[in-house]
Amino acid sequence: MNKKHITHILILLIIIKNVFTQSIITNNVENVIDYWTQEKMLNAIPMLSPIGELNKTTSNNEKGSLLAGVSDSNSINLDIESVDLLAVGKLFYTSNGVDSVCTASVINTRDGNTGITAAHCVYYKGVVSKNVIFCPGYNNGKLSALGQIPVTVHSVPKSYIESWSDDDYAVIKFDYPGSLKLQTGSFGWGLTPQSPVSIAIFGYPYNGDMNCAKDGNNCCVWRGDATLEYPFGRDLPPEWSVPLRIGSGASGGPWVMKNSLPNDLGYLIGVTDYYLGEHKEQANPLNFTLINILIDWPQN
Ligand SMILES: *[C@@H]1O[C@H](CO)[C@@H](O)[C@H](O)[C@H]1NC(C)=O
Ligand SMILES: *[C@@H]1O[C@H](CO)[C@@H](O)[C@H](O)[C@H]1NC(C)=O
Repeated sequence: MNKKHITHILILLIIIKNVFTQSIITNNVENVIDYWTQEKMLNAIPMLSPIGELNKTTSNNEKGSLLAGVSDSNSINLDIESVDLLAVGKLFYTSNGVDSVCTASVINTRDGNTGITAAHCVYYKGVVSKNVIFCPGYNNGKLSALGQIPVTVHSVPKSYIESWSDDDYAVIKFDYPGSLKLQTGSFGWGLTPQSPVSIAIFGYPYNGDMNCAKDGNNCCVWRGDATLEYPFGRDLPPEWSVPLRIGSGASGGPWVMKNSLPNDLGYLIGVTDYYLGEHKEQANPLNFTLINILIDWPQN
């Protein structure tokens, strides 16, 4: 048995277990619903999907400078719809004192209170996000009847923390009385498709190439093919790629195959991670063994 190392840092309780594969971070969720007033939610800064490093061997400092100076690109016309889907929602959080927003979704687990987002939304440049709250089915600039659900735990792959670029996804635990997935539906996971694969991508973008309003008020969807590419050479793992920029605020949104709404939500193959070039977005293929390890809470 590993010994648990418990450290109190201000109001955060950080529990690190299985340090070779993951960091489990437990949030204090007291007052988190009071914290997120409508004004704060509307003023939250959409998380910019970090631009992909052009060379994976660049140092972290160089990577940091690549994150700056990104301009909005011209939209390209693609077939985009806006959808009302409870399994996808906005994820609000505070990072380094800045109120921010990403996208997250509910995934199929026995406990029914587990979701997924991008790792960089809950752990960014060494800073652990606070005040994390999930708003499933947020649409027309409003909360759904399910309201705001505090996120009590985020479980981040060690491989992400060390690399900043591999396995950029995190599993989150909802503080919901009962089973959230019974209310929202959930995305399946565990299938590894051949490339190319026909997918749907969901998110709440504030810019980028999706053709919806891009004001962060509505859940947008893009449908098309994702292809496995080796942007950093064949020595490094491949990544799913799509020919458009999904946009800030949509980071963490699900990439799903076999999606045929309204009945079949489909299976996750990745989440929006970062973009390469003006009209290209990437997702690290999900490692399902790792995801099983990340979900460290009781499954009954
Ligand atoms: C990537 O970085 C390595 C080490 O600094 C360098 O040798 C290589 O030429 C770089 N590759 C590219 C494509 O810039
Ligand atoms: C998937 O994750 C497991 C657990 O961390 C690791 O042992 C394995 O090497 C990973 N697989 C790939 C393809 O990265």
